[in-house]
Amino acid sequence: MRILIASTNKGKIEEFRRILEPLGFEVVEPKEKIEVEERGETFLENACLKAKAYFERYGIPTLADDSGLIADAISPYPGIYSSRFYSIDFGGKEEVKTTKDEANIRKLLRLLKGKKERSAKFVVVLFFYGGDRGFFVEGEVRGRISEEPRGEKGFGYDPVFIPEGYDKTFGELTPEEKDRISHRGRAIRKFLEIIKGCEGVFT
Ligand code: IMP
Repeated sequence: MRILIASTNKGKIEEFRRILEPLGFEVVEPKEKIEVEERGETFLENACLKAKAYFERYGIPTLADDSGLIADAISPYPGIYSSRFYSIDFGGKEEVKTTKDEANIRKLLRLLKGKKERSAKFVVVLFFYGGDRGFFVEGEVRGRISEEPRGEKGFGYDPVFIPEGYDKTFGELTPEEKDRISHRGRAIRKFLEIIKGCEGVFT
């Protein structure tokens, strides 16, 4: 089965590819980014908007991911603003010196500096849409924010997120370790359970 991923985020696409391709799915990457205005106030609304926009452009059953990090001390931030946290009008803006990911992390660590409460969670909503029908699943992983970035693997906030029960950040774990416990890994496994029972429905 072909599945279009409604994203041009290389980190996300790689995670979908490495879980879905060994199971026989053909993961299709969009040729170009569609500027979907993420006007929703929830991950679910935004995932739904993205799935619909990409399906309408490409006509391939589409899996959209809307995800983010929520740090309890500044909840609900970065939240639905995770990808552009550096630029939003909350806690001062941060200049992009190298990458947006680096600026986002710098802002998060600045806002948590000196705070004892460093607990956080990653959440994701995956919305799968095939034109006249769709469904969604959610995934979550709890952990805490490190004092400093550690590790080169992954993307986004991975270098500062330490999952519960570990002392390494997602940036230090192997891709297989991350997939086993991550919000996205968990949600993809729920997606697989459902799609298994939907043969012929989304082709
Ligand atoms: P979206 O494209 O609006 O869903 O943005 C999601 C943002 O949340 C990403 O750009 C990252 O900053 C962050 N994020 C989501 N999932 C992960 C993850 O698995 N690791 C690190 N950062 C993540």
